[in-house]
Amino acid sequence: MPNSTMTQNIDKKIQGQIDQQPFKLSDLPYGYEVLEPIISAETLKFHHDKHHAAYVKKLNELLPGTEFENSSLTNIILNAEGSLFNNAAQHWNHDFYWKSMSGNKEERMLSPSFKKLIEDEFVSFEQFKKEFEGRALGQFGSGWAWLVMNERNKLEILTTKDAENPLRKNLIPLFTCDVWEHAYYIDYRNDRAKYLSRFWEVLNWKFVEENFSRCQQ
Ligand code: FE2
Repeated sequence: MPNSTMTQNIDKKIQGQIDQQPFKLSDLPYGYEVLEPIISAETLKFHHDKHHAAYVKKLNELLPGTEFENSSLTNIILNAEGSLFNNAAQHWNHDFYWKSMSGNKEERMLSPSFKKLIEDEFVSFEQFKKEFEGRALGQFGSGWAWLVMNERNKLEILTTKDAENPLRKNLIPLFTCDVWEHAYYIDYRNDRAKYLSRFWEVLNWKFVEENFSRCQQ
C-alpha cells in the first residue's frame, strides 16, 4: 500500500526516524542506569531488550506478502488491523516512550512558556498532573497514557488500550507513559499509582516541547 497524503501530513508532525523497513530496534537514547531510581536498569533491560525487541521481530516476520510490505511505519499504524497493527503500534509507542524520558537535568526542565500552556488548559500544573495520573491509573488493563495535540490545536490527556495509538484518531502525541505492567512491575510491583507519581521526575520536557513546536509549523 503506497503512503497516503494523510500519512505524509501526519509524518510532518512526528519524528520519522524509525520509518523504514526492515524495522530495527534502536538503542535506548540513554544508558540502562540513567533513569534510576525511578526506573531501574533491570526494568529497562527487560522492557527494551525483550518486550520491545519482540514487537519489532514479530512485525518484520508478519510483513512479507502483505499489502504493507513497502509501507512506512506510520502508514501501517494508520491502516493495518490485528497483529500487524498491534506490533507496529507497539514498536512506535515504545520508541516514543523511550524518547519521552531523559536522564539529562536540562531536558527534564519544563519551560515557563509551556507551563503556561498547560495551566491555561488544565487550570494549574498540579491539576494537570493529578488528571494525567488519574486517567493513567484508571486505564483498565494494559495501555498507554498520553499528552496529545487535538485537531483544535489544544492539549489533551488521552489513554489508549493495549497497543492503540493516538495517530489513528488524528491526535498528535507529545509524550507517553507506558502503563502495561511490564513497565513498572519489577520496580513498583502492582503499585501503578506510585510509578505514575514518580514518572514526572524522568519526563523529557524538551522532547515534549519539540513535538509541540513541530505541530505549530
Ligand atoms: Fe511496554
